[in-house]
Amino acid sequence: MFDNLIGEGMEAVEDTLEHVVSTDVETLQDASVHIITSGGKRVRPRLVLLSYLACGGKDMADVYDLAAAVEMVHTATLVHDDINDHSDFRRGKVAVHKKWGRTFALLAGDFLFTKVYELMAPYGNPYNVMMSKACVLLVEGETLQAHAAKTGEIDREIYKKIIARKTASLFEVSTIMGAAAAGASDEIIEAMREYGYNLGMAFQLVDDILDVIGDAEEMGKPVGLDVAQGRGVVVAEGAANGNGSYQNGAPTAVAQALPDDDPVKKMMDRMRDSGALELAKLQAAEMGERARAALVALPESEIKDALDELVDMVIDRTN
Ligand code: IPE
Ligand code: IPE
Ligand code: MG
Ligand code: MG
Repeated sequence: MFDNLIGEGMEAVEDTLEHVVSTDVETLQDASVHIITSGGKRVRPRLVLLSYLACGGKDMADVYDLAAAVEMVHTATLVHDDINDHSDFRRGKVAVHKKWGRTFALLAGDFLFTKVYELMAPYGNPYNVMMSKACVLLVEGETLQAHAAKTGEIDREIYKKIIARKTASLFEVSTIMGAAAAGASDEIIEAMREYGYNLGMAFQLVDDILDVIGDAEEMGKPVGLDVAQGRGVVVAEGAANGNGSYQNGAPTAVAQALPDDDPVKKMMDRMRDSGALELAKLQAAEMGERARAALVALPESEIKDALDELVDMVIDRTN
């Protein structure tokens, strides 16, 4: 019953995402449809719907466009992120910049991002302010990360600041917009902020762990890029415990297939053996528990249980 309801809502969000990118400029339309229809876990729009319902929202249709807007921000950033991260695959398909080239990928990302205004406009304030703050944080996070990768200056504190801004911000805005749209009290909105933020932190920690131990095919994107380019929790932990000093290696698409004497492969093996991964896993679990703890403020319901289960799904995920 409840699964059907969420399933219905997610289908409506899917339709919105596909329809809103319609344009007579074929390249924009094709590149947008390429990335939107290539899958994706849709965690953020699901969070908007779940948060709305968990906080007593009655008509889920009220938040479909909010949910589509957060997924659209995410999708736009992926198109640009793959240029910045020299990543050729996304969601099991060739990345937009590989298929259409960098110029069109930049423009397609701009197009997707601009569509967020269209989706958000009817909501007025405070939703547009919440969303713009999250987007600023996201761009700041990606910029801080590019600086850190360039200079090799990354430690736990810098790493945490980066992922809080580039990833947790969008999770947080998904939960607080859902809660606010349901008319939740300030106290409940605060609890949902705490949940979304910590879930987002755990989500990025796990993403960075999967860069070292994940399966590229299952994830639909390359592994080993963070290590090769000096990003991610494992690099940060390696630096913190003196085991993981990295050198910039050539970006590589399928690090798992690298020969044993490849520097990136060696570095990944060292990361695995250094204890950095275990520390990263502990941090992810701790963030997950913080998210779970925030849910005590919510009334009991099967939707609250679903938010609780989402914590386990994020921690245990393999893609
Ligand atoms: C990838 O996000 C970028 C990160 C913040 C780690 P997702 O893992 O949610 O990507 P999709 O949407 O499922 O492809
Ligand atoms: C991306 O982080 C987060 C964004 C804000 C786009 P990553 O660079 O780790 O995401 P993937 O691994 O490319 O999906
Ligand atoms: Mg990336
Ligand atoms: Mg990653």
